[in-house]
Amino acid sequence: MSERTQVAIVGAGPAGLLLGQLLDRQGVEAVVLEARSRDYVEARIRAGVLEQGTTEVLREAGVGERMDREGLVHGGIYLRFDGRSHHIPMSELTGGRAVTIYGQTEVVKDLVAARLQCGAPLRFECSDVEVDGLRQDEPVVRYTHERSEHELRCDVIAGCDGFHGVCRTALGADVLNVWEREYPFAWLGILADVAPSTDELIYAQHERGFALHSMRSPLLSRLYVQVDPEDEVERWSDDRIWEELHVRLASDGWELTEGPVLEKSITPMRSFVAEPMRHRSLFLAGDAAHIVPPTGAKGLNLAVADVTVLAEALVEHFGSGSQTGLDEYSDRCLVRVWRAQHFSWWMTTMLHTNPEADAYGRRLQRSQLEYVAGSRAAATSMAENYVGLPLIKPAAKALSDG
Ligand code: PHB
Repeated sequence: MSERTQVAIVGAGPAGLLLGQLLDRQGVEAVVLEARSRDYVEARIRAGVLEQGTTEVLREAGVGERMDREGLVHGGIYLRFDGRSHHIPMSELTGGRAVTIYGQTEVVKDLVAARLQCGAPLRFECSDVEVDGLRQDEPVVRYTHERSEHELRCDVIAGCDGFHGVCRTALGADVLNVWEREYPFAWLGILADVAPSTDELIYAQHERGFALHSMRSPLLSRLYVQVDPEDEVERWSDDRIWEELHVRLASDGWELTEGPVLEKSITPMRSFVAEPMRHRSLFLAGDAAHIVPPTGAKGLNLAVADVTVLAEALVEHFGSGSQTGLDEYSDRCLVRVWRAQHFSWWMTTMLHTNPEADAYGRRLQRSQLEYVAGSRAAATSMAENYVGLPLIKPAAKALSDG
């Protein structure tokens, strides 16, 4: 079976679904293809911190209603080390900006519902997905769906199929430059059926490793402990996890309340960037182009920024034939991507216990924590990155604008 569309979107994670939604609202046709099932995509647990700019885009895309009702707006975080808690008043330091705690899983559910409601094509469980025709400028996506083979011809392919997807691989080593770092640790995350023991997120550095107390709602907590990347979830009983959380999050006069563990999993940590983010008519967005370690929760926010830039460029292109936005896509995104790369690496390095660090490295790390906790200038730098830098403006322009 053969069909034609303007934009073939490979992947129905937040990047692909949001791109589809932004294009649909502006009259650009797209087909979204996804390898996994709807149930799988809607159950996948990821981070849950939305930058202010991200919430604005979701609202403008018409999918902000439940987020505005159920999301928790946070104006600060706690940094915890040496058994003491230091409040970083993000909003106060950034002219009133804030983050919203709302799970990526919920964003995906809202986007799937919106797409199905408007009747735009969204196909789950597509197998053998293959992109072709880039060199001849006749892009095509081939896939199998409901046991028949399909060919989707298009003007542009949006590769939103994640780090392990086919789109980046299709470009090959002669087109892409790749930067990568792996970390000697991972996160063991749990979802717990208990009210959070804190009003705002707690990022804790402890000699036994990093711990994070986050949340999903007034009744659901999300917590993480740093573990060895080779570790296995089976080796972590619920009791062992809580015990470790008590030790690492400990602070005078504060108590952690335990509850039933609903889910647990281990997330590896990696930094990765592939450049350029566009080759001919294939545009990479989100995890297909870049990965950040989860400290700071930038992954989803970067994906939203990418597709916001891409949607704008595509709408302009299909409206007026202009190539300008498409030509600028990669460079515009990469400014923000590299800022988030640095911030995520920096947060990770400051907060984790690196088994490979020497004594000097550990003292530098301590000094950095004390600096952020004690200096308004250092805390402001952390805060403006955490709540999110302006969506598209390059840093140099933001400075000259005052
Ligand atoms: C989460 O709630 O899953 C979360 C929060 C903050 C992070 C990372 C993950 O930095």
